[in-house]
Amino acid sequence: MLKVAVCGVGRTGSEVLRAILDSDRFQLTAAFCRPESEKAGRDVGEYLNRNNIGITIREISQMEQVLAETPVDVVIDFSNHTITKTLLRACKKHRTPVVLCTTGFSEADMLWMTDFVQHNKIGLVFAPNVTLGVNVLLAALKLVARALPSFDYSVTETHHNKKVDIPSGTAKKLAAAIGDELPAGAEVPITAIRAGGYVGLHTVMLASDYERISLTHESFSRRAFVEGALVAAEFIAGKTGWYDMEDVLGMHMIQNAAADAV
Ligand SMILES: NC(=O)c1ccc[n+]([C@@H]2O[C@H](COP(=O)([O-])OP(=O)(O)OC[C@H]3O[C@@H](n4cnc5c(N)ncnc54)[C@H](OP(=O)(O)O)[C@@H]3O)[C@@H](O)[C@H]2O)c1
Repeated sequence: MLKVAVCGVGRTGSEVLRAILDSDRFQLTAAFCRPESEKAGRDVGEYLNRNNIGITIREISQMEQVLAETPVDVVIDFSNHTITKTLLRACKKHRTPVVLCTTGFSEADMLWMTDFVQHNKIGLVFAPNVTLGVNVLLAALKLVARALPSFDYSVTETHHNKKVDIPSGTAKKLAAAIGDELPAGAEVPITAIRAGGYVGLHTVMLASDYERISLTHESFSRRAFVEGALVAAEFIAGKTGWYDMEDVLGMHMIQNAAADAV
């Protein structure tokens, strides 16, 4: 069984914990929370309103020490971008691979992370949207844009009213993937909506003067994130280097083959 540590035990991290505890493919070996969080010191099972399981939620600042004492094949992270450097520095010593699902990174953060991962030979899946469906949509859009470069493209994203990063990392990634295939100077505007309890809704619309195509992805439940994160964890175990979900799903290979056919 793959031994997994979970960093960030909020809304999504808690779903990851539940899925791992219910799985026979994964074993939970550690869990981490924010520094000075009231969750520190609680048993994971008790925190999830289940029976105690003998694993205590520890502060992220203790991660390096925990990784030295506890076997961990992969860390799955759904926490906060302000603690990612602490997380990666802790993983460096034991070359523990990471599935990084946290969002909100600046360009400077991205440069630091890519350099740190390559330099220290850590394995990392960078997954600002980890759902399987969005990543297949991403690959499909590249082919659509390649085939219809004269159409006008736009992205609309809707998320729950507590999501802080605007626009979403996924919307930016969809727009960039389309933009890369369009003639220089073509813009892909993004509209962001924050409303109620939306888990995640992304629509790409493309239109000419005479016709329209609309492609929508919607996550119904946080389990969509969990499923993708666990697939990515199995992929990155034992690897080094920087990967994305298209690598995890083998989409780069499929796209290259399909591009030859367009
Ligand atoms: N890649 C994807 O597909 C995907 C999907 C869903 C969410 N996300 C991202 O994953 C992250 C967590 O999302 P969520 O909805 O689970 O959020 P959440 O419920 O607010 O959980 C955040 C977790 O991170 C911890 N944390 C650590 N350092 C923190 C800090 N400096 N400030 C605030 N919290 C901190 C929190 O600790 P305490 O509980 O102790 O406060 C909590 O356990 C976000 O970046 C979100 O955008 C990505």
